[in-house]
Amino acid sequence: MGATRVGILTGGGDAPGLNPVIRAIVRKGIDKYGYEMVGLRRGWGGLLEKDTMPLDLRSISGILPRGGTILGTSRTNPGKIDNGYEKAKQAFGELKLDALVAIGGEDTLGVANKLVKMGCPVVGVPKTIDNDLSATDFTFGFDTSVNIITEAIDRLHTTAESHDRVMVVEVMGRHAGWLATYGGIAGGADVILIPEMPFDIEEVCNLIKKRHATGKNFSIVVAAEGAQPKDASAFFTKKQELDAFGHVMLGGIGDALAKEIEKRTGFETRSTVLGHLQRGGSPTAFDRVLGTRFGIAAIDLVAKKEFGKMVALQGNKIVAVPLEAAVAKLKTVDPELFEIAKVFFG
Ligand code: F6P
Repeated sequence: MGATRVGILTGGGDAPGLNPVIRAIVRKGIDKYGYEMVGLRRGWGGLLEKDTMPLDLRSISGILPRGGTILGTSRTNPGKIDNGYEKAKQAFGELKLDALVAIGGEDTLGVANKLVKMGCPVVGVPKTIDNDLSATDFTFGFDTSVNIITEAIDRLHTTAESHDRVMVVEVMGRHAGWLATYGGIAGGADVILIPEMPFDIEEVCNLIKKRHATGKNFSIVVAAEGAQPKDASAFFTKKQELDAFGHVMLGGIGDALAKEIEKRTGFETRSTVLGHLQRGGSPTAFDRVLGTRFGIAAIDLVAKKEFGKMVALQGNKIVAVPLEAAVAKLKTVDPELFEIAKVFFG
């Protein structure tokens, strides 16, 4: 009988920390458990197309500080392909996989959960810069993005101050405003707009006017891409087409807000879209450590044959939770945290 074969895939948008997770799984999988490790390329696409790469100790050397994922990623959804789930299950057998570690967010882990119900041995690792997965206090990738946003706001502060301007910063966050809230608090934002709390543009402008009336001559507004005005029913979008998981491409709130704020307040306003800068580059020390802890815990779950579970951070402990609990609903911003942010508005 050959060695136990364990596959790894990374799905959805990339996040800094993916490579540290892969490194930890492979290192312990080979050194401690004697497994044969197989990388599936480009998320669920790699499973369906049986597109694999060997993962030995050499292939993980030097990847700890690297952003992105050495496996590649995609938003391929077996649910959108004819008999996609059946084909995925069949590929499992053809690739002779004894287990699979799926590293991803809500969409990728939703697929993992369905495959588990069909009898496939899968464990999950929570990834997303958005930090919107339930059952874990934090996902890896989030801390790096928050640091990038914070540095960007610090830089915008000095130029805003020099020019007496209002600066609108558009950050990622489709349904949850964790990045806007953490980045905004850390950067000292004067207004933060998040998807969970539809805003009134008049109130936003009043906060800015109030601030400027007290002698301040500049303001920073942080807006999550998925934030919406109270009186609008649609998101700000770049394109109307949906991706394989049914998401539209968001974007545009920063520019729209900047125009409206300038018109209503008379203060010169500029907007900056941080976009994919928030997802690129080297992970922070926090994300490297969290990713490493998640990877080790994931391969331990495989060894214990605890399939259908996801590793999670709760308090300062790494625990295992049912995949079902992680994907059942999105984790939105804690209202108590947002109250803290609001103390500094205006
Ligand atoms: O990773 C999740 C996310 O960051 C969302 O906040 C954002 O809407 C989306 O990715 C954009 O990703 P892409 O441009 O790769 O489709």
